[in-house]
Amino acid sequence: MATDYLWFEGIPFPSYVQSVETLKFLRDEFVVQDGDVITFSYPKSGSHWMFEILSLIHSKGDPRWVQSVAIWDRSPWLETEIGYENVKNQKYPRMYSSHLPIQLAPKSFFNSKAKVIYLMRNPRDILISGYYFYQVLKLVKSPESFEQYFELFLQGNAPFGSWFDHIRGWLSMKGKENVFIISYEELHQDLKGSIERLSQFLGKKLSPEELNSVLKHISFQVMKDNKMSNLSIVPDEVINHSKGGIMRKGITGDWKNHFTVAQSEAFDKIYQEKMVGLPRGLFL
Ligand code: A3P
Repeated sequence: MATDYLWFEGIPFPSYVQSVETLKFLRDEFVVQDGDVITFSYPKSGSHWMFEILSLIHSKGDPRWVQSVAIWDRSPWLETEIGYENVKNQKYPRMYSSHLPIQLAPKSFFNSKAKVIYLMRNPRDILISGYYFYQVLKLVKSPESFEQYFELFLQGNAPFGSWFDHIRGWLSMKGKENVFIISYEELHQDLKGSIERLSQFLGKKLSPEELNSVLKHISFQVMKDNKMSNLSIVPDEVINHSKGGIMRKGITGDWKNHFTVAQSEAFDKIYQEKMVGLPRGLFL
């Protein structure tokens, strides 16, 4: 499996992003439709949790869809070959996802009524989650050590580039009627309220019973046990299942178990430099 990066516009992409032509095509020619629901996120932000939530809002709490169709078919990745084919074959309204930074998102989105959900997460926890996941995902170069990956992330050279640029770009859409911005931490703090707000945004009103069923099926343990959601059916050539998987811990603040005091201070310093002008307190 190729683990070399594909570079485009100064951003390192993992090899599962087909080619520079794919990225250009998605940005310049892909047509976003008004009814589309697109989740954008930096990798390791809790994207699969969001897909499960959206799937269950879509099915009004009925678990049969999430139990019978693989998660990558329910909300395919736009920038992968298989994902793109799936998006093309989806019935309307379509639901799909992407890790693309805003400057590489399809231009047609900006003149559409498609709905975008941008999912954020504390970058320190994203770093930890990526550090473990890239040891099992064979499509990405495995971190040499925690110190090496820590530097790579802060230099903006982890898969899909700088987290700081990614979030700054997408936060510029804050306040737009068709853009819903939410964090992994908010989901943890108030899952029920977050789902109510999301379903309102999507125009899908849930009854109390439907909402309870959504809540039941998106818990960490239920997702971890669902082979259609936990990536256990991904072939061994892609994920080294003996070493771990995507459903790792599912908590907030795990970075505190990993960062040294010096790393924490170094991270905060760069964070403050890179996030100048953004709301104070966001992940500080
Ligand atoms: P950890 O590695 O910190 O455990 P992504 O889908 O963007 O790759 O993000 C993966 C992260 O989301 C993992 O974080 C994973 O455990 C977490 N996650 C997935 N489903 C979850 C759920 N139902 N509840 C909480 N966290 C979840």
